[in-house]
Amino acid sequence: MKLFEPALIGSCRLKNRIIRSATFEGMADQQGHPLQEYRLLYKELASGSVGGIITGFVYISPDGRAMHPGQVGIDRQEMVEYLLPVTDEVHKYDCKIFMQLAHTGRQTRKKETGQDIWGVSKKKSLYFGGSPRVLSTEQVYLLIKRFAEAASYAQAAGFDGVQVHAAHGYLIHQFLLPTINRRNDEFGIDAKSRIGTRFLGLVIDQIRKKCGQDFALLVKASGSDDYFTRFTTEQFVSLIQFLDVQKVDGIEISYGTMDNALNIFRGEIPHKVVIKHNPVFKANNGITKMLYNALIYCLMRRKLKPFTPAYNLKYAELAKSLTGIPIISVGGFRKGEEMRRCLENGVIDFISMCRPFICEPDLAEKLEHDRNYSAKCINCNICAIMCDSDQPTRCYRNDFDL
Ligand SMILES: Cc1cc2nc3c(=O)[nH]c(=O)nc-3n(C[C@H](O)[C@H](O)[C@H](O)COP(=O)(O)O)c2cc1C
Repeated sequence: MKLFEPALIGSCRLKNRIIRSATFEGMADQQGHPLQEYRLLYKELASGSVGGIITGFVYISPDGRAMHPGQVGIDRQEMVEYLLPVTDEVHKYDCKIFMQLAHTGRQTRKKETGQDIWGVSKKKSLYFGGSPRVLSTEQVYLLIKRFAEAASYAQAAGFDGVQVHAAHGYLIHQFLLPTINRRNDEFGIDAKSRIGTRFLGLVIDQIRKKCGQDFALLVKASGSDDYFTRFTTEQFVSLIQFLDVQKVDGIEISYGTMDNALNIFRGEIPHKVVIKHNPVFKANNGITKMLYNALIYCLMRRKLKPFTPAYNLKYAELAKSLTGIPIISVGGFRKGEEMRRCLENGVIDFISMCRPFICEPDLAEKLEHDRNYSAKCINCNICAIMCDSDQPTRCYRNDFDL
């Protein structure tokens, strides 16, 4: 497998094996309509030779909105006309685009969204706080319908497929994890596999029914997490075997949950930016809060996993050994040589990147012309923290005055 050779995700042909992984944009109005910058962002990315793009997470229902301002929604038909110009633009460059569908579940804040928080169980997220109201079985079925409707709107808006967000601690991941899922109904944890796949299974099933087999269906999953009772290798294996039976078109392997978000990204902790912009840690009221934050910072530092090249590869490799479904690895790819090696050894099928594309939207073009090109991203993670501000996502590596 070569980096710059065409490859299939379902029936969808990508001109190369580089994907821009889902990246929150912060480019929508209060009603979730994408702004002009959103179209321009995707035009810029598509014109830079990337094979496929996965959008930032899009909410399928208002009660599943993120706490970040400026999230796009796909919860109603009306969104189709706003999104058509985006996909039209991307397709001009022979680039494919997939919409990431998400519901935040307990990983959001009422203060920011004005909506009640709904969860799989009463268990609070340590990071987001807030007591979730438990979704009834009927409400769960309604959300499955909402996921399928959202996919059909994405299809009508010209997207080549969707990626179902089952990673990073969002609602579908909350159903999968026994540490969070304490349900006694049909959506609880399976006694044999020790994961809760029924919700994800019905979401996949209903999307297929509504959109057909030719509309690509990808899933993003986390290889493990940082909970006290960690997601084990056996549970991860069960999840991949489950997705194999479901015959999804592609699986992207990431890591973790937003309870310890920095381990999804790895790299620096931009402490000053956190204190200034993060709604949970904002410190503008006195010494106690400052001390509390200093303590949190020390804990964060202790729990932070080191940034190493291609840091989720071991999970992706394991997934590849279990299924013939194309495996996409995300997290820590920076050097052309590394990417080529992983593909040439057949360890994975696609490389996806997030922060490097924030820094260099034309990264794929650079990698095509220079085998040894190394991305300029320095993993300062300011872009990640600034998702909580009202600013659109961008690279801050040259801004020292935040
Ligand atoms: C600013 C920013 C926004 C992100 N938004 C999303 C998102 O909307 N959905 C998602 O699944 N992951 C999101 N991620 C995680 C990335 O897709 C990716 O898994 C992670 O950054 C590791 O890849 P990298 O080392 O190439 O940056 C985001 C990351 C950053 C830094």
